[in-house]
Amino acid sequence: MAKAAAKKPDMPSINIGIPDAKRAAIAQVLSRLLAETYTLYLTTHNFHWNVTGKMFNTLHTMFMGQYTEMWNAVDPIAERIRALGFHAPGSYAEFAKLSTLKDAPAKPPKAMEMVEILAKGHEAIARTAREIFPIIEDGDDQPSADILTQRMDIHEKTAWMLRAMLED
Ligand SMILES: [Fe+2]
Repeated sequence: MAKAAAKKPDMPSINIGIPDAKRAAIAQVLSRLLAETYTLYLTTHNFHWNVTGKMFNTLHTMFMGQYTEMWNAVDPIAERIRALGFHAPGSYAEFAKLSTLKDAPAKPPKAMEMVEILAKGHEAIARTAREIFPIIEDGDDQPSADILTQRMDIHEKTAWMLRAMLED
C-alpha cells in the first residue's frame, strides 16, 4: 500500500500586526541586506589578510574594525528575518544570488584600490538600505526600520572615512 504523503507540519501562525504579504516582502528585502552585508564583510576580511605596502598597519587594523562591525551586524538582520517567520539565508550560493555586490577580486588589489572598493561597497549598502526602506515603512515594521536606520548610519560613516583616505 502506498504510504500516505507525509503531512506537512503546520507553520505556526504569526499575527504581529503585519499582513502576511508585507511580512514576506520585508523578509525578502532584509535577505538582500543580509547578503550584501555578508559579502562586504568577507571582502573586508580578505583585504585585512592581503593588504600590503606602506599603509599596511593602518589598513590592516582599520579593516579589522570594519569587518568586526559587519560580522556583528549580520546576526540581528538574520534574526529579524526569523522573527518575521521566514528562513534566513546563510550560504554562499544564496548570498551570491541575493547580493548586488561582487565578491573580492581573486588577485588582491593595491592598498588604495582596496580602500576604493570598500568605500563603494559601503555606499552601495547604504543605497540598498535606503531603497528598501519604503517596503519596511509600508509594513509598519518599526524594529526592521530601526535596524535599517542603524545600518545606513554606519555604512555612510564608514564610506566617508574610507573616501577621506583617498584624498590628498
Ligand atoms: Fe587578523
